[in-house]
Amino acid sequence: MTRRSFFAAGTGLLAMAGAYAFGEEIAAMRTGTGAKTAILYGTRYGATRDTAGWIAEGIGEEVALLDVETMDPSKVAGAFDNFVVGSGIWIDGPHKGLLKLMEEQHDAISGKVIASFVVCGSTDRSEAGRKRIASYLQRLEAPLAEAPKLQKAFGGRMIIAKLTESDRKLLKNFYENIVKKPFVDWDRTEPVKAKNFGEAFRSAIAPLVERTT
Ligand SMILES: Cc1cc2nc3c(=O)[nH]c(=O)nc-3n(C[C@H](O)[C@H](O)[C@H](O)COP(=O)(O)O)c2cc1C
Repeated sequence: MTRRSFFAAGTGLLAMAGAYAFGEEIAAMRTGTGAKTAILYGTRYGATRDTAGWIAEGIGEEVALLDVETMDPSKVAGAFDNFVVGSGIWIDGPHKGLLKLMEEQHDAISGKVIASFVVCGSTDRSEAGRKRIASYLQRLEAPLAEAPKLQKAFGGRMIIAKLTESDRKLLKNFYENIVKKPFVDWDRTEPVKAKNFGEAFRSAIAPLVERTT
C-alpha cells in the first residue's frame, strides 16, 4: 500500500470511527388517497428493504416498493405521483446507484419526493451522531431540487455471517482496532418508528392529493 492510499484508507476508517455511535416489478398502484406512491430504496444487507416495508405498512395502502438494484429505471418517469427515497449508509455514504438514478430521473421526480430516510448505525444520542445523520440525509438529498418535507434516520443491522468478505474484514478492523469494541452482530431496526413515518407521509400527501383532484 502506498503512503497515499494508506492515508486515504485511514481517513475512511477514521470517518467510520466517528460513526461508531452506531454500534418487481414496478406496479403503479393507486393508494386510497388517489395518489400513486413509490418507495425507492437502496440496500446491501436488507435492513433498508425491511424499513421501506414498515413505512409502506404505515402508509396503509398499496405502495410500490422499488429496489434500485432490480427495478427498471426507465419505468419510474411519470409512473408515480410521489416518492419516498431511502438508503442504507456504508462508510462512504448512501447507495451510489440510487444517487445516480435520482440524478438521471431528476425531472421526473422533481418536486415529488415528499420524504427521505437513511438506515444507519449512527444514532441521534450525541451531537456528533446528529451531525453525521444530517450529513447522510444531505448526501441522499443532494440530487433533488428541494429538500423533502419529511426526513428521518432509522437504526440498521449488522449480521457478520451475511457480510461480504471485504466488508467483514473492514468492519472487523474498524471494531477491533479503531473503536476497540467487540465485533458482534447487532440489530437496531425500528419497525414502529418506520410505521409512524409512513403514517406521517400519508398525512403529508393528503392535502397535496386534494389540491390536484
Ligand atoms: C461496510 C459497512 C460500513 C458501514 N459504515 C457505516 C457508517 O459509516 N456510518 C453509519 O452510521 N453506519 C454504517 N454502517 C451501518 C449500516 O448503515 C447498517 O448496517 C445498515 O443496516 C445498512 O443498510 P442495509 O442493511 O440496508 O444494507 C456500515 C455497515 C457496513 C456493512
